Amino acid sequence: MSKAQVGDTSKADVSGMSKAQVGDTSKAHVSGTSKSQVGDTSKADVNGMSKARILVVDDEENLCEFMRIMLSKEGYQVETVQSARDALSQLENNPVDLVFTDLMMPDMGGLEFIRQLRESRPDTECIVMTAYASVDSAIEALKLGAADYITKPFNLDEVKHTVRQLLSHREVVAENKRLHKQLADHSSLDRFIGNSDTVVQLKELVARIAATDSTVLIRGESGTGKDLIARALHAMSSRASGPFLSVNCAALPDTLLESELFGHVKGSFTGAVRDKEGLLQAADGGTFFLDEIGEASPAIQVKLLKALEERIITPVGSTQPTHVDVRLIAATNVDLEGMVKESRFRPDLYYRLNVIPISLPPLRERRDDIPMLVDHFRKQIAKRSGAAIKQINQEAMQLLLAYTWPGNVRELEHMLERAVLFAKSNRVCASDFPEKLRNNAPVPVTFDECASTPTMETIEKAYIAWVLHQTGGQKARAASRLGIDSSTLYRKIDRYGLKR
Ligand SMILES: Nc1ncnc2c1ncn2[C@@H]1O[C@H](COP(=O)(O)OP(=O)(O)OP(=O)(O)O)[C@@H](O)[C@H]1O
Ligand SMILES: [Mg+2]
Repeated sequence: MSKAQVGDTSKADVSGMSKAQVGDTSKAHVSGTSKSQVGDTSKADVNGMSKARILVVDDEENLCEFMRIMLSKEGYQVETVQSARDALSQLENNPVDLVFTDLMMPDMGGLEFIRQLRESRPDTECIVMTAYASVDSAIEALKLGAADYITKPFNLDEVKHTVRQLLSHREVVAENKRLHKQLADHSSLDRFIGNSDTVVQLKELVARIAATDSTVLIRGESGTGKDLIARALHAMSSRASGPFLSVNCAALPDTLLESELFGHVKGSFTGAVRDKEGLLQAADGGTFFLDEIGEASPAIQVKLLKALEERIITPVGSTQPTHVDVRLIAATNVDLEGMVKESRFRPDLYYRLNVIPISLPPLRERRDDIPMLVDHFRKQIAKRSGAAIKQINQEAMQLLLAYTWPGNVRELEHMLERAVLFAKSNRVCASDFPEKLRNNAPVPVTFDECASTPTMETIEKAYIAWVLHQTGGQKARAASRLGIDSSTLYRKIDRYGLKR
């Protein structure tokens, strides 16, 4: 047999060959190449990487053996099976980098095999082996997701080249993914500005939690960066290449929220003109962020509990439950424990959500970070507007350091943006900030409502008003400082007209 015919393994030929012949011819070919050349072409040797794994699927045993010998000589780890079904079951537990498959096989055709392979092992590359006569099916295979095809009789150099190219491309893609992830890791937590001890510890905690798949409950007042942290948790997790989807439970009426979360089937309510996939299902393989979970109604709470317990969701109007693989992160700026005590939030759901709690400190409790945040925002504002970076004069910085920031970082960002915009020179000064910053004294506890000795009620009213101011209007926090429960505080706020 001539060298060019070595790969002539079209079925008729192979079946006409003895096993020994196939092995021999391949050996003859390889020995025709100098040893150093063989070494050079071996992927494992060249790149110092672990051996790439290849599975050959063909009902012709001789062809399998030929491929095994030829590819092993190239430094790959090769296995062979004689049917597509065996290949699929073997791949379940033993993933490979690349599969060679024949198209015409008795138990399951190559096209169906490729379809199932794409589904179960989307990361596995596939090369089709075909006779000239069936190039049409080979093209069909490419449409199904095969990476390439080789025609019988094989040209050995071409086969080796195809494999090498495909595997190195695969490495490049994987490496890119790794780099991308590293970059995302780095930048996602870096976006959370601050170097106070609290923030340094918080970042360490977030990095550790990101690596787990546990449900996380992020607490913190409005504007403390819950959203940023939720995104960082996703970006730093093994699910980073999957979707990150979120829904704000306070932003949608109940029925809409339910259909957004769980999806619906056509005709399940007026306006449901077609089936719609829910966001939880769309987040399959990724992370789902349930923002303002404290606002979820009892009905939504029940459905969420089921989704969390069993990772099963049922679209509105459907009886067909679907399994979803999502990591859940919830966030709240209300006191969920208080709500549980007052039977406004399901305790079972609360415990399911509160697997790993993260508390974001209010800005007034980490004032050390204010200069760094100011620096970050003034640069960012300049970049957005294309203007020069403005300085903040000392007096203005003093105001920023002293203010209570009930709206936390968000309030700081907005206030700086306005001040930078309004500043007449390239230095932002105290007068560029709103009145409330300059009149920053806490609400004075005045007793002028009664001329002589104040009553207990007057004192209580003034004291509650003062604590509410200190906590930036955060009722849960105020209630805990006052040593009363939230419902009592709400009653008192009503009674004393302290709504504002
Ligand atoms: N530590 C931080 N560093 C930089 N920017 C921050 C930080 N914390 C918050 N921000 C910014 O402040 C704004 C509000 O943050 P975010 O939306 O994450 O807050 P939140 O806690 O989710 O608030 P809410 O409860 O109102 O939804 C965003 O523009 C965010 O980029
Ligand atoms: Mg938010």
